Amino acid sequence: MAEIMIAPSILAADFARLESHAQEAVAAGADWLHVDVMDGHFVPNISFGPVVVKALRPLAQATNTLLDVHLMIKNPDQYLAAFATAGAGRLTVHVESTQHLHRTVQAIKALGVKAGVTLNPATPLGTLEEILPEVDLVLVMSVNPGFGGQTYIPASTDKIRRLRQMLNAVNSTAWLEVDGGIEPQNAAEVVAAGATVLVAGSAIFHGPKSVAANMAALRTATAVLST
Ligand code: DX5
Ligand code: ZN
Repeated sequence: MAEIMIAPSILAADFARLESHAQEAVAAGADWLHVDVMDGHFVPNISFGPVVVKALRPLAQATNTLLDVHLMIKNPDQYLAAFATAGAGRLTVHVESTQHLHRTVQAIKALGVKAGVTLNPATPLGTLEEILPEVDLVLVMSVNPGFGGQTYIPASTDKIRRLRQMLNAVNSTAWLEVDGGIEPQNAAEVVAAGATVLVAGSAIFHGPKSVAANMAALRTATAVLST
């Protein structure tokens, strides 16, 4: 069983104390910090830009935590350099947001940053077929992007399973990340389908217990499969 990474989404963190809340997640064993960038055009919500990635960079560098930046924005090519300079360790772009995905992936790599691609719930996996061998990560949206706290779309599990088959067919070592509505109750199902990275916002920062306890609950839920 592949190592399962947990990437808390800071979208759900307390922005009045963002660094300390993110630090709690890192101290509790977060492997990456997932940074949900929204522009109010590609998705119906506005979150933040490169300045927040820059604000988290000292914590990320001090703890060797990758800043996993998810660009839910129009015209991502215009912002790749700014996010790379701010400290993004990976830039993930939506296949729906750019006309020239291969060029965008090459531009991300040219900046020395890992490249990810992602797709909305209704976007077929076939859109990834040609780019799959080029990317470090594929992110499956298991909610319609724009807001945290939504419910996992059950059809996502079969999509994850089919994507796992596609990745295996080209001997890809890309991470298979899932984002949206992930919680201890569905984590095992998602991992069993082939996911290797779980994004969780509400389940970590708004969960029933402390950030550390919520992280432990999610980790335990996936550990069942690693035996
Ligand atoms: C959707 C966001 C959310 C966030 C995770 O646009 O990408 O999926 O990361 O939020 P939760 O874990 O609360 O669904
Ligand atoms: Zn995200």
